[in-house]
Amino acid sequence: MKNMEKAFIPQMEPWFGQEEKDEINKYLDEGGWITEFKRTGLFEELLADYTGARHCIVVNNGTISLTLAAIACGIGPGDEVIVPNYTMIATPNSVKMLGAVPVFVDVEPGTLCLDIEKVQKAINSRTKAIMLVSANGRYPDAGIAAFEALSAATGIPLLEDAAQSLGSFYPDGRHIGLAGKVGSFSFSAPKVISTGQGGALVTNDDEIAFKLRRLKDFGRSGGGNDVHDSIGFNFKFTELQACVGIVQMQKLPWRVERKKEILRLYRTLLQSCSEVHFFNQDLEFTTPWFIDVNVKQRHALMYFLKEAGIGTRVMYPPINRQLAYQVHGSYPVAAEVGERGLWLPSAAQLTDGEITYICKSILSFFDGIKGN
Ligand SMILES: Cc1ncc(COP(=O)(O)O)c(C=O)c1O
Repeated sequence: MKNMEKAFIPQMEPWFGQEEKDEINKYLDEGGWITEFKRTGLFEELLADYTGARHCIVVNNGTISLTLAAIACGIGPGDEVIVPNYTMIATPNSVKMLGAVPVFVDVEPGTLCLDIEKVQKAINSRTKAIMLVSANGRYPDAGIAAFEALSAATGIPLLEDAAQSLGSFYPDGRHIGLAGKVGSFSFSAPKVISTGQGGALVTNDDEIAFKLRRLKDFGRSGGGNDVHDSIGFNFKFTELQACVGIVQMQKLPWRVERKKEILRLYRTLLQSCSEVHFFNQDLEFTTPWFIDVNVKQRHALMYFLKEAGIGTRVMYPPINRQLAYQVHGSYPVAAEVGERGLWLPSAAQLTDGEITYICKSILSFFDGIKGN
């Protein structure tokens, strides 16, 4: 491990290669217009086939996709949208953008997805959507059927922020993102696949798909015309991103398998370490985007690992405590993640030897503490 000790292992790294360059060069040689066209259509088809969605609509990122999903479901200024207090800040910001009010609800300790009992308590007459985030590709321990039943009983649409979940399925075989009215993915770097920036919406609802296509293209009534029967904006994709996305989709099956193998290896190598706790990731159906753990002595461990050439990253702090929001309330699970949640190196290209080195370093940190 001498050489490895010298090379820094980042928590995540980009993964574009010659194949993406070749596809972009081929496209540029064809002299296309670069704005979204046939390659974008092909990327949408590949995503729809992979997820089993009737419609897939790509947009410029996985934040605006959530905003458009909310608009297409009729959410407007002053409406309340339930969001988890543990998520990337884009989830609540996406509805803030249209003047709606994100209402923070705590998450389950096992999966960090919305806690359904707390969701039920937060519902009132102003609640117009529930935004379920599949944290790290996970579905809630309470089961997706419980959320679907709640949505059916209350008439409140379920929107799925599946930004971190390409390659993750519910145990009934549906891809995550397809249980709600509309699901959203992100292709920012680094996600399971990336186009640099990018997002996609999936839905089986023809009317929602129709609205989404208009919303992203100036409200045009047809491709390229200037006839507008509704208000829309410009959140379109580009052919260059689609070139990258098409190649990335070919790499997806390998990445999904490798991400699962990586988590299995971490779990095996750290099973004797009671100071490192893994969340409930169902590896038969779901794919971890990052390796997320709850650890004791987080900052001391991070420093120790950095000295050993290993990069880590603290997990999202509770959103209610961000200066941008400052909402009072009791959120014990999100608060604990804010103190102890840590992302370990998670890139699909990590070798087994590197993971062994990382785990040995973690074990020696905790052995050192016990020895003192
Ligand atoms: C849960 C979640 N929602 C939304 C987003 C925003 O996606 P984007 O960066 O593509 O806007 C992210 C990005 O990491 C995310 O993790």
